[in-house]
Amino acid sequence: MSPSGPPRLPYRKTVGSEGIRRRTFLTAGAATAVGAGAMLLEGCDDDDSSGTASSGASGQTIDGGDWEQVRNSFALDPDLAHFAAFVLAGHPAPVRDAIGRWREKLDTDPDAVLHEATRHDDEVRAAAAEYLGVRAQEIVLTDSTTMGLGLTYHGLRLQPGDHILTSTHDFYSTHESLRLAAVQSGARVERVALYDDPAAASTDQVVSRIRDALRPETRLVALTWVHSSTGVKLPVRAISDVVAEANSGRHPDERVVFGLDAVHGFGAEASGPADLGCDVFISGTHKWLFGPRGTGLVWLRPDAGRTVTPIIPGFDATSMGNWFLDRHATGPYGPQLSPGGYKAFEHRWAVADAFAFHREIGQDRIAARTTELATRLKDGLAEQSNVRLVTPRDPELSAGIVCCELAGIDPGGAILALRQEHDIVASVTPYRESYVRFGPSIATSPDQVDDLVLAVASL
Ligand SMILES: Cc1ncc(COP(=O)(O)O)c(C=O)c1O
Repeated sequence: MSPSGPPRLPYRKTVGSEGIRRRTFLTAGAATAVGAGAMLLEGCDDDDSSGTASSGASGQTIDGGDWEQVRNSFALDPDLAHFAAFVLAGHPAPVRDAIGRWREKLDTDPDAVLHEATRHDDEVRAAAAEYLGVRAQEIVLTDSTTMGLGLTYHGLRLQPGDHILTSTHDFYSTHESLRLAAVQSGARVERVALYDDPAAASTDQVVSRIRDALRPETRLVALTWVHSSTGVKLPVRAISDVVAEANSGRHPDERVVFGLDAVHGFGAEASGPADLGCDVFISGTHKWLFGPRGTGLVWLRPDAGRTVTPIIPGFDATSMGNWFLDRHATGPYGPQLSPGGYKAFEHRWAVADAFAFHREIGQDRIAARTTELATRLKDGLAEQSNVRLVTPRDPELSAGIVCCELAGIDPGGAILALRQEHDIVASVTPYRESYVRFGPSIATSPDQVDDLVLAVASL
């Protein structure tokens, strides 16, 4: 945030339907098969900055320091309080506008747009890289967290006898990706509990359980930043340090890769891969980032990225050039690992606008706001005699997700009553042991948090 006060989000038209004038040059060997558009190198003399951050066609501005305006930029039903908005994002106005502009262009002249597909993908990578503090070519573009987990864990070179360490707290998408990768490779998966009582989880407990479970044959540690089962936020930096200790002195082929499902921290917390220290950061961009539905990314540290084999062919210049020219050149792993095939490009390329929305409000301000609302909610719930908080109160060990148990009512019944009787939307954790789950976010207000506490108390 600038010292002169809260930022205003500019809405500028960036994807005009008018006059793209460009010179395009096909890479050698690709001249006969233009279809993918991914083989194009281009020199553009057009005046559009399609898909770049901070785009918008409406000419409106949102005052990024005015939380009400930020909230109102969502098209969410104003008669409801949206404490499950993080499950599948509603789009804020800049994202909706960008999707609309891309859609119009794709509907009008898909051929022209496809000729610049590589450039537009690169613009999304650049926006993601700036947000995460990494290099653009280290970013894999995916459709979801689940796709990123599957591609990464299957693409790692695992073999019979290798040990994969995960926890009992992760979501289906991690557990099942690991199970399937183990079936394929002959590696063995071990799940350990990192805490017994989530509300009493501690950094020392989590870290010592990881340390105790690491073995000489461990090749992958696959964990989740913020557990959607309990709301516990793992002390990822401390875990990375333990993994680094285990790796010291190991041959590069035997080192442990630390993969993180980051989806419930990404967009709600201000930390990026450099702070976290993990090797692989896997997330959808359609939850707390409030990006376009059906989008996601993976960031891989270079030594990890170079060891992952693509599962779905990339539509990048190196991969397609190899096919055309029958060669085996290696290119940047971000584009090569990004699954090819045509996409819902209006959604993919509007991801840049979701990053712009967050950056211009301020990652730190959004993280602080999320913590403030979650803390207010936990403080309020903790005072109610019918509530048992499951998520730790300490913001060091929790993020936006707040889970609890309610006396005398099961989680499904509770969220139904909240919706029908109080116009509050909440969710149930999709796990064997399930809880009521709330996600205060930039789409909810302090007053809504207070109303929620009263509503829960009345159940
Ligand atoms: C921890 C966690 N990871 C992954 C997912 C799935 O995310 P996506 O829809 O992006 O695949 C979910 C829930 O939707 C989740 O809670």
